[in-house]
Amino acid sequence: MQPPRRKTPLFLSESASMKYGGSRKNNNVSIIVVVFSVFLFGCFIYNEDVKSIAEFPFSRPKAQELQQELSKTRTKKEAKLESSEETQKPADNLKMIVSKEIDIEKIELPVVQDEEDETIEVPPEDCDLFTGQWVFDNVSYPLYKEDDCEFLTAQVTCMRNGRKDSLYQNWRWQPRDCNMPKFSAKLLLEKLRGKRLMFVGDSLNRNQWESMVCLVQSVVPPGKKSLTKSGSLSVFRVEDYNTTVEFYWAPFLVQSNSDDPTMHSILDRIIMPESILKHGQNWKGIDYLVFNTYIWWMNTFKMKVLRGSFDEGATEYDEIERPIAYDRVLRTWAKWVDKNVDPKQTMVFFSSMSPLHIKSSDWNNPEGIKCAKETTPVLNMTTYLEVGTDRRVFAVAANVTKFMKVPVHFINITTLSEYRKDAHTSVYTIRQGHMLTPEQQADPNTYADCIHWCLPGLPDTWNEFLYARIIARS
Ligand SMILES: *[C@@H]1O[C@H](CO)[C@@H](O)[C@H](O)[C@H]1NC(C)=O
Ligand SMILES: *[C@@H]1O[C@H](CO)[C@@H](O)[C@H](O)[C@H]1NC(C)=O
Ligand SMILES: *[C@@H]1O[C@H](CO)[C@@H](O)[C@H](O)[C@H]1NC(C)=O
Ligand SMILES: *[C@@H]1O[C@H](CO)[C@@H](O)[C@H](O)[C@H]1NC(C)=O
Ligand SMILES: *[C@@H]1O[C@H](CO)[C@@H](O)[C@H](O)[C@H]1NC(C)=O
Repeated sequence: MQPPRRKTPLFLSESASMKYGGSRKNNNVSIIVVVFSVFLFGCFIYNEDVKSIAEFPFSRPKAQELQQELSKTRTKKEAKLESSEETQKPADNLKMIVSKEIDIEKIELPVVQDEEDETIEVPPEDCDLFTGQWVFDNVSYPLYKEDDCEFLTAQVTCMRNGRKDSLYQNWRWQPRDCNMPKFSAKLLLEKLRGKRLMFVGDSLNRNQWESMVCLVQSVVPPGKKSLTKSGSLSVFRVEDYNTTVEFYWAPFLVQSNSDDPTMHSILDRIIMPESILKHGQNWKGIDYLVFNTYIWWMNTFKMKVLRGSFDEGATEYDEIERPIAYDRVLRTWAKWVDKNVDPKQTMVFFSSMSPLHIKSSDWNNPEGIKCAKETTPVLNMTTYLEVGTDRRVFAVAANVTKFMKVPVHFINITTLSEYRKDAHTSVYTIRQGHMLTPEQQADPNTYADCIHWCLPGLPDTWNEFLYARIIARS
């Protein structure tokens, strides 16, 4: 077991500003030391951090556990799909899996009508949407074009930033036992009329929020939509529908020293696992709430938990095992939801962990450099893919959301996203607010972002899961 590593925010946030100079412990440290440590971090820690994320030995289940998980989740039907299609070689096999809609035995599915009276089938409530496979589909995907969504930030516009391959935009998620409903922006907006939809969490949830903004904005004429940012809250507004699609920055959900929406480059991340009211104030009365929290937990093996309160100037903390601290945070969150959310008005979602792709040996590509050279998903689903996701944290989230008074839709994106090594922003992104230079782009080992995702891309699929549940609601 390695000692806990120093954390760095560098590739988790667009802001490299280290004006806060670290934890409150350092408040009295002289400017010189702060400046020097900023320099040091700038020079070395980025690599350290990448390494620490790449190495997560603790999060890797043993082979035995893998075997159990496999036999639990695989069925004959899946095995059949696999044997006919297993492949890692993209080009010649793409055709084979093009546009394969599952022929579900004729069950009467509930349907909804969109404005053009098109009939859209809604998957049955009990269909497991998250077990299935990626299918190449360049007819229906992407759901919008990069250039057609003015609201995308430079962090995610991979093509504009120089990415040459575009197949990552052409994959449709096909559940095993039912079909995803056809996406209709008009129908979604109709369902959101007079309502607020809010994403709450870290930069991956912001990634998904950007996707959702693009998914709905396509049918709204110019001048009838706007995006405003104020503090922790970003609000996309659609005038004619009196609808908002919002993002609220709270990377740990509970109060932490990383809550500043722009200057969250905190070296020592410290949380208050029982404090959520300050943030929660902003979530009351929202009609659709989508929570997540994961990536900010991953820099260190242990989580720093404040003794006392920031407001009272406390600076001492305990270091607690990640899954234990995560459990405490999610129980605080669950209590807040059960107390403050009226399930008759509000639908609550929790997105599971968005995976990283840091080690190309995880998918047997010895020539790979992190995720940088990947242009197709992992399509061979014979073996369980292990990319270093902390399954203990996943298990906590799956369990806590299951036993709440208010029903929570667990958006189980983890496994299906683990196959998408091709979908990250890699070197086609910004870092610390600036586009990577050609020199930086040529050095993916140091600079590739294998955490966030290009748009259009994978997060659009995550939003289709929300869409499936939102349109099913009367
Ligand atoms: C799929 O993966 C399994 C296990 O790694 C391997 O034995 C099999 O040959 C692979 N199939 C293809 C078509 O690459
Ligand atoms: C999440 O989905 C994967 C398949 O994508 C499945 O194997 C796993 O059992 C699911 N977990 C939960 C808790 O639903
Ligand atoms: C879709 O993919 C097929 C097979 O790779 C290709 O022949 C076709 O030109 C593509 N169509 C579009 C619109 O990109
Ligand atoms: C607009 O939506 C808000 C809720 O988001 C609601 O309180 C308000 O009454 C609506 N206004 C109109 C004019 O429908
Ligand atoms: C799951 O949550 C329930 C209720 O909160 C708790 O009693 C149980 O111990 C938890 N199980 C696991 C495996 O964490």
